Amino acid sequence: MKQYFDLKENIEEKNIEEAGKGIQKGELVLFPTETVYGIGANGLEKQAVKRIFVAKGRKQDNPLILHIADMEMLEQIAQNITTLEYKLMEAFWPGPFTIILERKPNVPDIVTGGLNTVGIRMPSNLVAQKLISYAKVPIAAPSANISGRPSGTNIQDIFEELSDKVDYIIDGGQCEIGLESTVVRVIKEEVHILRPGKITKEQIQKIAEKVVIDNHILGDLKPNEPVLSPGMKYKHYAPKAKCMLIYSKENNKLVEEIKERAKEYENPLIVCHHHNINQYENAKVMDIGETLEEISKNTFKVLRKVDSYHPDIVMIEGVEKEGIGLAVMNRLLRACEHHYIEI
Ligand code: TXA
Ligand code: MG
Repeated sequence: MKQYFDLKENIEEKNIEEAGKGIQKGELVLFPTETVYGIGANGLEKQAVKRIFVAKGRKQDNPLILHIADMEMLEQIAQNITTLEYKLMEAFWPGPFTIILERKPNVPDIVTGGLNTVGIRMPSNLVAQKLISYAKVPIAAPSANISGRPSGTNIQDIFEELSDKVDYIIDGGQCEIGLESTVVRVIKEEVHILRPGKITKEQIQKIAEKVVIDNHILGDLKPNEPVLSPGMKYKHYAPKAKCMLIYSKENNKLVEEIKERAKEYENPLIVCHHHNINQYENAKVMDIGETLEEISKNTFKVLRKVDSYHPDIVMIEGVEKEGIGLAVMNRLLRACEHHYIEI
């Protein structure tokens, strides 16, 4: 890392301008968005984008999202956009929403993993917007983490992992949402949700008549099964410790089940809702929050921390798969490698 900019309290335009120039020169910038931190590079330069894949240890067939600051940038990279696609962008941009569109030929293959589509998002975070504007090019940015690890939602969590792999770090404090954007693709007037996020099915249904949640969001994947989004194939978010996700609509049933199962282990760690922190006397507990908003904000932070307790099992209390709860459960299921019990 050449530069660390602390913009937690004040947004220093000069600093963002310098990082934006870095992007133009082909350098890597770790920057905040409202969802998670991103590792950004000039999205139209093959060599710059290549550096992201090396930094993350990411598989080449897993495409990146291009981040834009205005609709002019959209026209540079996508084509044959339909009325419904424009309506969706208008409704959810700037914000935690990514849409897969037909790409223009100037988008390098390395960004799209060779697909003829490209994922595009206009973030609402002010630092992210200014960085893209100063860079004057769409910024390719995956979540800030080594591939397979939980995404970074604050700089402390990822400093060790990434500081020697990027040129600039912009610290914007804790990300507000904490889970990556909702990813959609429109196929024949149907909106397919390929990755759930803060923008929910119910919100999208106000814009589009048909909204489909991809089967792979909650189900496990068979080897070589075809998918609409390459990211679905890869192991993700899993701590080193063995993890188990447990859910019941009834709180007392949930607590009893976890207590019973925890007896089988020597050093269990229970990740629970705030209201249950005093329920598990013979185990270590971690508080994941109370409301769905708190839980989504804390999920990756908690997943990054569980191994420091050296548990022989991590039991995680699930949430209802409604609203942003679907996104929380999608990330937790993957972290637990689909080791899931519902009672
Ligand atoms: O909130 C976010 O989206 C964050 C911040 C930094 O913006 N970014 C992010 O990027 O989560 P990444 O690379 O970690 O996840 C992008 C996901 C992957 O699952 C990838 O497979 C999918 O989007 N994706 C990207 N382009 C695609 C395309 N053309 N077709 C299908 N899926 C695509
Ligand atoms: Mg990611």
